[in-house]
Amino acid sequence: MQRTKLDPLDLVGTHVDGKYQIDAMIDQTNHSIVYRATHLIWKRHVAIKVFRPASPVEAEERDAMIARFVREGALLTELSETCSAICQARDIGSLTTPAGAWMPYLVLEWLDGESLDVLLAQERESGAPARTLQEVLRLLDPIADALGCAHGRGVVHCDVKPGNIILLRTGARQSKLFDFGIAKVVGDGPSRSAILDHGFTPGFAAPEQFDSSYGETGPWTDVFALALLVVEMVSGQEALQGREVVTLGQASCDRHRRPTPRALGIHVGDEVERVLSRALAVDPGRRFADVRPFWNELTSAASLPAKGTTTPFVLLSARPGPVALLVAQPARSPRARGRGHGRAGRKWLPVALVSAMSLAIALIPTHHRAAPRRAAGQQAARASVLAGSLAVDGPTVPERLP
Ligand SMILES: Nc1ncnc2c1ncn2[C@@H]1O[C@H](COP(=O)(O)OP(=O)(O)O)[C@@H](O)[C@H]1O
Ligand SMILES: [Mg+2]
Repeated sequence: MQRTKLDPLDLVGTHVDGKYQIDAMIDQTNHSIVYRATHLIWKRHVAIKVFRPASPVEAEERDAMIARFVREGALLTELSETCSAICQARDIGSLTTPAGAWMPYLVLEWLDGESLDVLLAQERESGAPARTLQEVLRLLDPIADALGCAHGRGVVHCDVKPGNIILLRTGARQSKLFDFGIAKVVGDGPSRSAILDHGFTPGFAAPEQFDSSYGETGPWTDVFALALLVVEMVSGQEALQGREVVTLGQASCDRHRRPTPRALGIHVGDEVERVLSRALAVDPGRRFADVRPFWNELTSAASLPAKGTTTPFVLLSARPGPVALLVAQPARSPRARGRGHGRAGRKWLPVALVSAMSLAIALIPTHHRAAPRRAAGQQAARASVLAGSLAVDGPTVPERLP
């Protein structure tokens, strides 16, 4: 993987808490920086994810932030103990950068491998052969398992995408899911509830992430993203077409064109198409309630003989990076109330918990290794669906709206 050498916090070469030596910066976004480090006693690699609060954290606010951070870290630890496909959290703490900034950090198991988005890009460049639906399901099976574990414990991810999946270099190239949203908990500052702020990636986002009037987010939101990932990998096309947030939002919410394999010209069996259509329904209440039933139905549908074959695997291109949402306390809309699956009023734990968004979206212009985006052009033309609720990506858009 291409590693950037820039280190905005100047931590490379320093020791953290007397236990870890920071070796290299791996990646950064506006809200966090991931380093590779070495445990000084065990001589094992770990990943250290340092969270950059949106604004300097006053000393008296730190305890509250750390307490919340510890709760989230404990939850992640517990989750990863129950499912080997979830990246383990190993330690937690805070550090002061050479410039004097206080920041919390999380120590994670070091995942030695390639993130799926990088792998897909490499495959495209090398003209790798096609992936069948069965191959895609095999590759994503651990991820479905990870999400199933999380959903079983009331935790949602809400940012399922290739960039949050790593294929380990060792063994059977098992895939692992990471980035369970603690960044969003820290990034919102100490004065606001964790559940008011979260992030998502427009290219893999469900309608309710773009617009709260579609309902609450929950496990069904992860179902949608996982289904999009399947469709993209068997089709070699971006399932949600568009370059800008507005266009992607329209594609996600368009009742007349769902991003199923057949809509993208890919021949799959009736059952596969039906299962994916349901997983990609606009209304959250029409989707599978969580990933387990979705995956069970999809894997059995895929074992049925399909007429024809899938098209050659081409590749996913990089998508716009995570979006930081600022949610005014979401007064739940009448539409959201009483929606199916007994979801109304159900509380999901605040790891990447998404309530709703109706005021604004600002794009974090961040991901360090973001590949060129597709040509604009489709952007504002059909903004009617989401008019007024989406801010278009661009250098003048603030990272977070006040
Ligand atoms: N445990 C880990 N081991 C190795 N690399 C990691 C690990 N966690 C994150 N990374 C790398 O850092 C990048 C950003 O991490 P991520 O947790 O997704 O941050 P963000 O919340 O900013 O999206 C990932 O794409 C991956 O390349
Ligand atoms: Mg991420």
